[in-house]
Amino acid sequence: MLKKKEKYNVAVVGATGAVGNEMLTILEEREFPVDTLRLFASERSEGKVLHFKGKEIAVETLKEDSFNGVDIALFSAGAERSKIWAPIAVRSGCVVIDNSSQWRMDPEVPLVVPEVNAYDLKWHKGIIANPNCSTIQMVVVLKPIHDVAKIKRVVVTTFQSVSGTGKRAMDELLQQTVDLLNFRDIKIQVYPHQIAFNVLPHIDKFLDNGYTKEEMKMVNETKKIMGDYSIKVTATTVRVPVFRGHSESVNIETERKITADEVREILKKAPGVVVIDNPEKNEYPLPIYASGKDEVFVGRIREDESIEKGINMWIVADNLRKGAALNAIQIAEELIKML
Ligand SMILES: NC(=O)c1ccc[n+]([C@@H]2O[C@H](COP(=O)([O-])OP(=O)(O)OC[C@H]3O[C@@H](n4cnc5c(N)ncnc54)[C@H](OP(=O)(O)O)[C@@H]3O)[C@@H](O)[C@H]2O)c1
Repeated sequence: MLKKKEKYNVAVVGATGAVGNEMLTILEEREFPVDTLRLFASERSEGKVLHFKGKEIAVETLKEDSFNGVDIALFSAGAERSKIWAPIAVRSGCVVIDNSSQWRMDPEVPLVVPEVNAYDLKWHKGIIANPNCSTIQMVVVLKPIHDVAKIKRVVVTTFQSVSGTGKRAMDELLQQTVDLLNFRDIKIQVYPHQIAFNVLPHIDKFLDNGYTKEEMKMVNETKKIMGDYSIKVTATTVRVPVFRGHSESVNIETERKITADEVREILKKAPGVVVIDNPEKNEYPLPIYASGKDEVFVGRIREDESIEKGINMWIVADNLRKGAALNAIQIAEELIKML
């Protein structure tokens, strides 16, 4: 188990990917107390050199003894890899913070957004799960409202950028855009349809209930993080041709009547939240401005005129930062603060 030290030996699994790359940047930016840093990816990347604090670090492939001496392992290499390697890492004595969906709903694994439920870190048994990107940005905004007015129901529609699918999807959007603008045929490899100049109401696999896995992640993870299984959630998740930053239209119904002004005041004081809500000046959150930022941005706050106690909001955040790498590193920061 993690012991208090001045600096920690850290591993990033999936270091060459979209989230892994962001993790290296954030570890450096936030001056996380790193002693040694080991970087892992697939065989395709073995020997590739990445940079951290001006030093070159060669990427390795995973082996049974890879985690010996590692204190904290940040996983961002997909659920299949997490399933196999996270227990091996824990047996080697390190704490795993996992970005994949593999452990999120496991009752033995805390699912944590530090602004919402840092207290759940106390009962971890070696693995801590980082929630789905769309869920993270939504609960950061919902929790302070829930504390005051108790949320009964959430209806969310997402507008998710292609970086949420990883590096290959970003390359595909760029390539399709260039090809279409040059009247060339396009290649469709990552998504089931063209993504450039299009909108896909389909993220992850379809399930028997007609929802997608991504939609059910939002439903189930929201309840676990908020620690309230009475909240009803329904979601429609949509992929849009945006490179970075997820946007969400969120409607909530509360037990106690709350005005739009009250919501704005609550959110102005909420940790990790920035209110941008000046419609008269055309000011509201936009993914192009949220990109590269740490906060969750919220605007278009208004009362839902179709029900007695309802609020509509527009929530935007950088999916690679708060939706993944930043949240994982904030968890690591909380963990070492607790020692
Ligand atoms: N993108 C987001 O906004 C986001 C948000 C929340 C959670 N997540 C989760 O984070 C994880 C990574 O997502 P991403 O978007 O960064 O994907 P990505 O860009 O496709 O990166 C995947 C990473 O996994 C590595 N990898 C693949 N097979 C491996 C293996 N057999 N052994 C070791 N490493 C292997 C890849 O290495 P190579 O470069 O060598 O192939 C790469 O470093 C996924 O579980 C995803 O669901 C992503």
